[in-house]
Amino acid sequence: MKNYLYIVIGSVCGLLLASCRPDQKQTESTPQPDTMVTTATKPFGKTADGKEVTEYTLTNKNGVTMSVINYGGIITRLSTPDKNGVFEDIVLGYDSLSGYLKETPYFGAIVGRYGNRIANGKFTLDGQTYSLAQNNNGQHLHGGLKGFDKVFWTIEQAGPGKLRLTYVSNDMEEGYPGNLNVEVTYELTDDNELKIAYTATTDKKTIVNLTQHSYFNLSGNAKRDILDHALTLYADKFVPVTNVLIPTGKLNDVAGTPFDFRKETAIGLRTNDKDQQLEFAGGYDHCWVLSSSDSIKHAATVSEPVSGRVVDVYTTEPGIQFYAGNFLDGSITGKQGVVYKHRYGLCLETEHFPDSPNQKSFPSTELKPGEVYKTYTTYKFSVR
Ligand code: GLA
Repeated sequence: MKNYLYIVIGSVCGLLLASCRPDQKQTESTPQPDTMVTTATKPFGKTADGKEVTEYTLTNKNGVTMSVINYGGIITRLSTPDKNGVFEDIVLGYDSLSGYLKETPYFGAIVGRYGNRIANGKFTLDGQTYSLAQNNNGQHLHGGLKGFDKVFWTIEQAGPGKLRLTYVSNDMEEGYPGNLNVEVTYELTDDNELKIAYTATTDKKTIVNLTQHSYFNLSGNAKRDILDHALTLYADKFVPVTNVLIPTGKLNDVAGTPFDFRKETAIGLRTNDKDQQLEFAGGYDHCWVLSSSDSIKHAATVSEPVSGRVVDVYTTEPGIQFYAGNFLDGSITGKQGVVYKHRYGLCLETEHFPDSPNQKSFPSTELKPGEVYKTYTTYKFSVR
């Protein structure tokens, strides 16, 4: 059996190194300090040009584990307990690197420089028009052909349970102006939270909209589709779109529509209703409008009735894209041989609204030299 480099970090015991087998992780009998998050690293394969990918696994004192790779900053695994204390993986992905290197619908990845769509792949800053890849129905999606989901991030331990991922996106990379220094931290706390902080600075005016594209399935190991998951979205309005999923520019009230998730509702209850917005997107794939205050606020709660697992989402962002896995069609075989059929995962992508660079009334996504882009999102895992 493979030996793992096993780094133990705790506020009391500091940093120490030891070698151990993975099956010993959960059964260690040494007394645990109050804050005890451990990190293990292991090779996760190589890209075609020979670059090594490493997987980092954080484990908190409750046994929640989260694995991340330096390719795309992808969260490859997130294991949380159900109401009976059974740990299972609640995110979609692949068992090995080859899946992530092939066409993947952004499973678990950091998305940027601009998460979501930009109309016709064009925007203007200070009178200059920039052209981006039209990689989705003539529109720009998720940073282009080689977005932040397909680049190598430098990963370092930034404290107990905290990984710092950094990436420098060069001036005009994927058509975006300015050298952009990006930092994303993933922190797994002993309160079973994944706290994400996004930071960016630029040397030329640019646009930035970073998000995380994990697909959740709280049944555990993706046992069935997500239609029986119950969702609350703390939003009175959503962003209506055209048939190519570009905002019309209006904000619509959710009241009286299948987009009203202000009271907890099963996702499947209205997803096939006769509604033009649902028809355009093949189901839910829209941005809901949160309060525009920069402070952290409750954005969403999603729960699964059989396992009892719950995820609460908090964010400083003004929007949350709820995507119900409408484009999953059974053509992807994921972890443990599970076939990801229609709506087998859901994404809760905290972000600014789609196409903000072309919509003057939307909160701005511009970043100027000297400014610091800083947003926070927390996913809290619990049971009921
Ligand atoms: C996003 C988009 C969806 C789809 C998925 C990836 O969340 O909003 O329309 O493109 O990514 O398949």
